[in-house]
Amino acid sequence: MVVKLLFLWLLFCLSWAQEQRCLQSASSCDECIQAGCAWCNSPQAHIRCATTEKLRSTGCHGRHIYNPSGSIQVVKNDSGADPADAEPLLLQPQEVSLHLRPGVRESFPLTISKATDHPTPEPIMNLSNVPAGVQVTFSSITKGNPQLLQVSVEAAQCPRKSGASNQNRTGPWSILITPRGFSVSLKLEITLLCECNCTGSHEENSPACSHHGTVVCGQCECYVPYFGKQCQMNGDFISPQYEDLCRMGPNAPVCSGRGICVEGFCECNRRADPNEMYSGRYCECSNFDCPHHNNRLCGGNGRCACGRCVCNSEWIGSACNCSTETASCMAKNQMLCNGRGVCECGKCHCMPPHVGATCEECPDCVDVCQDHAACMECRAFRTGAKKDT
Ligand SMILES: *[C@@H]1O[C@H](CO)[C@@H](O)[C@H](O)[C@H]1NC(C)=O
Ligand SMILES: *[C@@H]1O[C@H](CO)[C@@H](O)[C@H](O)[C@H]1NC(C)=O
Ligand SMILES: *[C@@H]1O[C@H](CO)[C@@H](O)[C@H](O)[C@H]1NC(C)=O
Ligand SMILES: *[C@@H]1O[C@H](CO)[C@@H](O)[C@H](O)[C@H]1NC(C)=O
Ligand SMILES: *[C@@H]1O[C@H](CO)[C@@H](O)[C@H](O)[C@H]1NC(C)=O
Repeated sequence: MVVKLLFLWLLFCLSWAQEQRCLQSASSCDECIQAGCAWCNSPQAHIRCATTEKLRSTGCHGRHIYNPSGSIQVVKNDSGADPADAEPLLLQPQEVSLHLRPGVRESFPLTISKATDHPTPEPIMNLSNVPAGVQVTFSSITKGNPQLLQVSVEAAQCPRKSGASNQNRTGPWSILITPRGFSVSLKLEITLLCECNCTGSHEENSPACSHHGTVVCGQCECYVPYFGKQCQMNGDFISPQYEDLCRMGPNAPVCSGRGICVEGFCECNRRADPNEMYSGRYCECSNFDCPHHNNRLCGGNGRCACGRCVCNSEWIGSACNCSTETASCMAKNQMLCNGRGVCECGKCHCMPPHVGATCEECPDCVDVCQDHAACMECRAFRTGAKKDT
């Protein structure tokens, strides 16, 4: 049970961390898919980079979600007429093309058939041509002849964009895998899915960009001198923007990833629901991200300010769901909860065995007269069971 809870907690933490990473990678499609997230390329999207499920839940249609997955294509896989005639060794397949999403491993089987009784040949390769972080590993499925191996390929990350050389980050790059001591090899062609293919979603002079830019992957690429989310600003009339003034910390996203920076001030994004707003110097606050009670924001008894409920008078609690009003706790004897309980959030919590809305009922109590009869008899008449005590 505890292990299961820990596991669920871990899953929750991981998915939370992933959402945060996606939110922070929201400035471009390339950055987003490199963080392992999905991108929404609808011009109307207000959340662009998230998990596929999250994008769906925010109204991004499936055809607008870009989230390429890795693939394996076997280009050449001849079975060879008779290995004994031509080569002393047959590799199957001979050529494979791989599209890799960084961090996701792709695997395929490799068969090595020997014509004669050679010892088990060990595959060797030269990885000097591929970017750092690409790993090729082999695991044995069956030994003997033919020998069956599982080839796994994984790229740790996308190659960094080096400023000067316009180096290509997606490849393809080729690797030859050759069993030691032989000349036949398997050719691997590796392409990294590190850049978005937005050729399908280009729109020049788009109205979504105030006719001053091209929509690429759902985002405006503004023509000089225009800028802004919708290319609505003309750089000729506005002094340079001071982007760092729009960051909460040195590496924080500009305007918390929820707005654009105009002359050092954040212009926060609008939400589909006009009642929902981002605010704060860095758009770090919102008025819709607070505790709920009975499905209502701040229990319907307060307003949401930057993640905390500010409760109306006579309400307290993190979700403004606790009333400070005590009239409902007042018993007929003008005592709160009949003096037999405490009044919390407008309700009596009675000390047992007392019950009822104001703790006036006590069905399990012994009859009061009977309870005190012996004492009264003693006091009044100095007789009865308690006369000596
Ligand atoms: C290549 O073809 C053989 C049959 O000749 C098949 O068993 C094997 O799975 C194929 N390899 C791949 C990687 O598709
Ligand atoms: C690997 O390939 C590179 C470039 O083709 C070559 O310069 C290098 O000598 C090769 N290394 C080995 C160990 O074969
Ligand atoms: C990227 O580099 C690979 C090998 O270095 C080359 O084969 C390929 O054509 C290049 N692609 C582009 C788009 O320049
Ligand atoms: C990009 O996507 C288009 C279709 O939207 C496709 O025709 C094209 O081949 C793709 N290009 C690459 C490099 O994947
Ligand atoms: C108020 O809401 C919190 C969180 O939803 C809950 O734990 C608590 O029991 C609620 N209190 C009352 C009095 O309803």
